[in-house]
Amino acid sequence: MDVAGGAMRLEGADSVRVACCPQRFAKAADDASWEHLWAPYDEATYERALRYVPAGAAVLDIGAGDLRFARQLAARARIVYAIELQAALLPSSPLPPCSPPPLPQDETYLPPNLIVLCGDARTLPFPAGIDTAVLLMRHCAHFSLYREKLEAIGCRRLITNARWRMGVECIDLARRPQPYSELALGWYACRCGATGFRPGPPEALDERLADTVHEVERCPECQT
Ligand SMILES: C[S@@+](CC[C@H](N)C(=O)[O-])C[C@H]1O[C@@H](n2cnc3c(N)ncnc32)[C@H](O)[C@@H]1O
Ligand SMILES: [Zn+2]
Repeated sequence: MDVAGGAMRLEGADSVRVACCPQRFAKAADDASWEHLWAPYDEATYERALRYVPAGAAVLDIGAGDLRFARQLAARARIVYAIELQAALLPSSPLPPCSPPPLPQDETYLPPNLIVLCGDARTLPFPAGIDTAVLLMRHCAHFSLYREKLEAIGCRRLITNARWRMGVECIDLARRPQPYSELALGWYACRCGATGFRPGPPEALDERLADTVHEVERCPECQT
């Protein structure tokens, strides 16, 4: 990866600061499913997600849509990489050489610490040095792939609505989940993205347990 003068090249990606070729992603668009539909979330969701982002963080926003949240992230973080599959959602670029640079209030303005990558987050290498990832994608079907890729680059936290498909949680990626088989009963969220309640003797369920979500691995859905 090479970053120079606001332009960036990352293998397999076209940065909108460089150029974007819609045909290149036509195949992926043909396979589009729910996961590939763009819909923004409400401000309350963004506020909640933003609270988990440490000031000065290095953030990767996976499935960034029209960049409305990536711009908010850029105001708080040191650097934000935003990956979006659909070129049509992103501000067009490059500008003709003689045009004046966009102003902060313009729709096409990108803050200098926001690097936009148009490509498929499933196959695109994630930039090194990321400590915080954002995955606001309630219909995500590739949670476990993204988690593995983030863990491989040493990312520490994942802010997401992909597991519970409502609200926003912040997952500590450095913490090893317990094996599902060791959970006696209670709510669980698995590293594969599945969530559920493991049944057990009702007398063992108290208020504290009912309010606790256990981070697990190798849940029944992992095996299928
Ligand atoms: C529900 S929208 C949310 C957009 C943005 N996170 C927000 O909160 O405003 C999900 C976005 O993820 C993008 N997306 C889905 N799969 C992707 C992939 N494999 N690589 C990159 N972007 C993807 C979709 O194109 C869509 O814009
Ligand atoms: Zn699982």
